[in-house]
Amino acid sequence: MKVLVTGGTGYIGSHTVVELLKSGHEVIVFDNLYNSKIETLDKIKEITGKEVKFYKADMLCPEEMEPIFKENDIDCVIHFAGLKAVGESVQKPLTYYENNIAGTINLVKLMKEYNVKKIIFSSSATVYGDPAFIPITEECPKGVCTNPYGWTKHMLEQILSDLYTADKEWSVVLLRYFNPIGADESGLIGESPNGIPNNLMPYIMQVAIGKLPELGVFGNDYDTPDGTGVRDYIHVTDLAKGHLCAVDKVMSTEGVNIYNLGTGIGYSVLDIVHAFEKANDLTIPYSIKPRRAGDIATCYSDASKALKELGWKAEYDLERMCKDSWRFAKMTLANE
Ligand code: NAD
Ligand code: UD1
Repeated sequence: MKVLVTGGTGYIGSHTVVELLKSGHEVIVFDNLYNSKIETLDKIKEITGKEVKFYKADMLCPEEMEPIFKENDIDCVIHFAGLKAVGESVQKPLTYYENNIAGTINLVKLMKEYNVKKIIFSSSATVYGDPAFIPITEECPKGVCTNPYGWTKHMLEQILSDLYTADKEWSVVLLRYFNPIGADESGLIGESPNGIPNNLMPYIMQVAIGKLPELGVFGNDYDTPDGTGVRDYIHVTDLAKGHLCAVDKVMSTEGVNIYNLGTGIGYSVLDIVHAFEKANDLTIPYSIKPRRAGDIATCYSDASKALKELGWKAEYDLERMCKDSWRFAKMTLANE
């Protein structure tokens, strides 16, 4: 297939491009490089031995995206491009609504014009809000989001579903990711957020390479086995492979199909700290801090629908996630 990957130089996008290339797909990437680096393309080539056709384009500028559709006969789109910093979205709601929602509308308008009516969208477990039940199945009602970033996912799911309601030729796959961590086994690509990280594993990596003194654990009085928050951490390569299955799905059906991509296992913050220490034989200093606003106690998936309908399940365990994160941190983050 000829697959257009938006946001393909970003964290999840780059890992998905690697898996697409490894399985023989032809890949076209566009990104405005706001939160990623052009060098990622060289690293993808180093890993796969294959070239990607790249366009520097911004979703907010349809004239920058149009040549991509004019010059390529695209079969389907995997849509990762977007802003994702939860705290920043509270400070800059209009920036988030404009970039993520207006940008996606520009994208799908062009898709419609060029008769490319197959899209896989990066959604998030955040759409479940404080989930009505655990483990979370796709039947769990969507909840109240605590920030504009979450609302952009909530609204975009609706907008993309409405496309199909209006035109039955559309095929839409909504993938609700749980907590991606880890990195490609090469250590060449991974997650490298700007500034002080907000998410747990990037923060642990900064402590591990000595750039930050200790981890703050946000609350130890939740109703969980050790009092710290429980999440469903998934290796980014497993997540990327989920997109390969989603490509088969989106190409072979019409309609709107929704899948959780998680492992189905919940780990606490302290489980992660201790697993990272054990896997890599080092110590992560931490102290308990107050709860972070907007956090929930527990969030993990029931991912059986993806197994049943896509034939996909996560394979890498927590030890592997910790080892691969650390390899990337040592090889890449430590030199930044
Ligand atoms: P990322 O920031 O690494 O990648 C997103 C890419 O989109 C970046 O390379 C950025 O430069 C690009 N981009 C942003 N705005 C753009 C625009 N207007 N035009 C063109 N390119 C633009 O993020 P990621 O972690 O790889 O996430 C990918 C997608 O998955 C995002 O939509 C994100 O919201 C979603 N998601 C991520 C997580 C997570 O934990 N990382 C969880 C759930 C959902
Ligand atoms: C967060 C976002 C979510 C987004 C996801 C992936 C919030 C409220 N939610 O999820 O919308 O889809 O990232 O980008 O921000 N923790 C610490 N110390 C830290 C960092 C985190 O104890 O320095 C704890 C958190 O309280 C939580 C767990 O680690 O219990 C995971 O946090 P994080 O990695 O930020 O992911 P989520 O909060 O699950």
